[in-house]
Amino acid sequence: MSEVKSLKKLFKVLNLFTRKKLRHPSAWQNLKKPGLEFMTTPLYYSTQYTQYHEKTFHIDPSSFLAPFAKQLKPGAHVLDIGCGSGRDLLWLVKKGFRATGFEASPGLAALARRNANCTVIEGDFESFDFSTLSADALLLSGALVHLPHDQMESVLRNILQALTNQTEALVYLSLKEGGEGYTDAHNRTFYLWQDPDIRSVFRKLSLHVMDCTRTSSVLGTGEAWLGYVLKKRDYPMSGYSCSNSGSKLV
Ligand SMILES: C[S@@+](CC[C@H](N)C(=O)[O-])C[C@H]1O[C@@H](n2cnc3c(N)ncnc32)[C@H](O)[C@@H]1O
Repeated sequence: MSEVKSLKKLFKVLNLFTRKKLRHPSAWQNLKKPGLEFMTTPLYYSTQYTQYHEKTFHIDPSSFLAPFAKQLKPGAHVLDIGCGSGRDLLWLVKKGFRATGFEASPGLAALARRNANCTVIEGDFESFDFSTLSADALLLSGALVHLPHDQMESVLRNILQALTNQTEALVYLSLKEGGEGYTDAHNRTFYLWQDPDIRSVFRKLSLHVMDCTRTSSVLGTGEAWLGYVLKKRDYPMSGYSCSNSGSKLV
């Protein structure tokens, strides 16, 4: 009987520990604390920004940005969240859109400013107050791939506050397809998604799928990406299934 009690106590302690970890505000905030270097996804983008820039800046984003751009009004203001070194900002500016970047890595933010000649806000999308910003559309190209599944809904809800028009606003979001997740050679942790699971998050946020494509990584990693063009609407629309086409980044 006392063994059962001890086991229950142990599970309680373990459970508290896990919940505490999940409730942690953001890995980017931990980065600033000494002795917590195990938070390696932020550390990668904060220190290896030149390497990341060289790996991703040359990719032509037309294949995945064109379906999004097609639905934007001329001159629309797009907020590119997790903009990296500014490849997509530059593409948008060249197409005549106004673009602002948002990035947590100071090194990548500086590169994005230089490469696209745009304003780039330095911040953590897990804690930043997006109601202080104002954009016609949001671009989240691979930006949320490191976000744990259970934080997707609340983080997206916060980000959506940046939309000036809370209905009829456009969002582009891409994620890696698969089950669970993995840690890569640079110790970045990726959380993968199945199409029905991310759609159930979209439904809770009144985000309707206008276009969905499944593409394979241009870097030849064999990974599949799911790219969604979404419209924020408070009334239902008919669903779209994913088409397989094109190729995509990282
Ligand atoms: C997979 S990369 C995608 C970069 C770029 N959008 C692209 O398509 O190449 C993820 C980006 O999101 C940024 N990021 C990750 N977590 C963030 C956070 N909490 N707040 C702001 N930016 C973040 C990273 O620094 C990195 O630039």
